[in-house]
Amino acid sequence: MKRTLSALEGQPLEGQRAFVRVDFNVPLREGTVADATRIVASLPTIRWLRERGCRVILASHLGRPKGERKAEFSLRPVVSVLERELGIPVAFLEDAVSPDAQQATRRLKRGDVLLLENTRFYPGEERNDPDLADAFAKLGDLYVNDAFGSAHRAHASTEGVARRLKPAVAGFLMAKELAYLQGALADPARPFVAVLGGAKISGKIDVIEALLPKVDEILIGGAMANTFFAAMGLEVGTSLVEPDRFALAKDLLGRAGPKLVLPSGVTVAQTLEPGAPHRNVPRERIEPGWAVYDIDEDAAAEYTQRIGRAKTVVWNGPMGVFETPPFDAGTVAVARGLAVASDRGATTIVGGGDSVAAVKQAGLESKMTHVSTGGGASLELLEGKELPGVAALDDA
Ligand code: 3PG
Repeated sequence: MKRTLSALEGQPLEGQRAFVRVDFNVPLREGTVADATRIVASLPTIRWLRERGCRVILASHLGRPKGERKAEFSLRPVVSVLERELGIPVAFLEDAVSPDAQQATRRLKRGDVLLLENTRFYPGEERNDPDLADAFAKLGDLYVNDAFGSAHRAHASTEGVARRLKPAVAGFLMAKELAYLQGALADPARPFVAVLGGAKISGKIDVIEALLPKVDEILIGGAMANTFFAAMGLEVGTSLVEPDRFALAKDLLGRAGPKLVLPSGVTVAQTLEPGAPHRNVPRERIEPGWAVYDIDEDAAAEYTQRIGRAKTVVWNGPMGVFETPPFDAGTVAVARGLAVASDRGATTIVGGGDSVAAVKQAGLESKMTHVSTGGGASLELLEGKELPGVAALDDA
């Protein structure tokens, strides 16, 4: 267990500079923030610190500028979102390692908020460079990591600085993410069902291995299912498969037995072109020249039933090419299944960029018990891995 912000309650925080790593890696459209979910998710931490008189210094990366200052990756568009949400002016600092950066943080008044420019404008960020971590550490009197989405990265602003600037604690968003995603694995109410989709087995193999001993069922969707079909000797037409994973898929099927559930039927088409004919077929009837793009209605109904019986559901990865209708149907059905399960009292947890996008697209976000702000980070947590950004924080 890691120390969280609440553990600092009662300590003299007034006037302290809180260096807060947030994950404001948000989508931008024409220079403005297109989806502020990740910003809003960190507001409880920012507000809590301000209410206790802290001076708040926010650090984040945005995109992958690879150590170069590139205007399209600037965090500047985030300033107006913060100002609107917090109702105060928010300062912006172009260069966190400039000689007067420290002074800029010391000039802040209690409750003031300062946003630093993209941490990945420094080549040392992704290398976890000790000098850069030192420079960040000088900008605060305490460290708060609320950047769950970046916790799987051992970077200067997530890992390096946490080893230097103490106390180093988890923010409220980080604590919530860990409670749901780790809690689900540690002590799940049963039946515990995992729904895993996505294109490749290779990207999900560790999570399947980690979940198999813990869950009652794993429901498989997405192109990943094709590799299992092929390993079973079924015709898969022109579907996306990973031939170098056939042996692995076979081995998994053998070991998992009935725990691993594959779609009984699929939606196939010859191309993904709009208006191209598509049809539903049992998985044994995929024809040469046709490719699987979704689970079919029967499979979706079966998955919905299984989800409906569960007390804990974890979902990562879409069931088909959900960004190209009509191949979004299976993914939307699963999202609805989770919403119904939530209404019946199940704990439903959604992680991973695509499944989260699908839940939002279906307007069902508020129905889920927890929608993770982390893509890669939530997957690594489900794989049972230790996240370096979390490991570096103080123990509770
Ligand atoms: C994410 O969006 O998953 C995080 O912000 C991490 O971004 P990264 O994959 O570029 O490290």
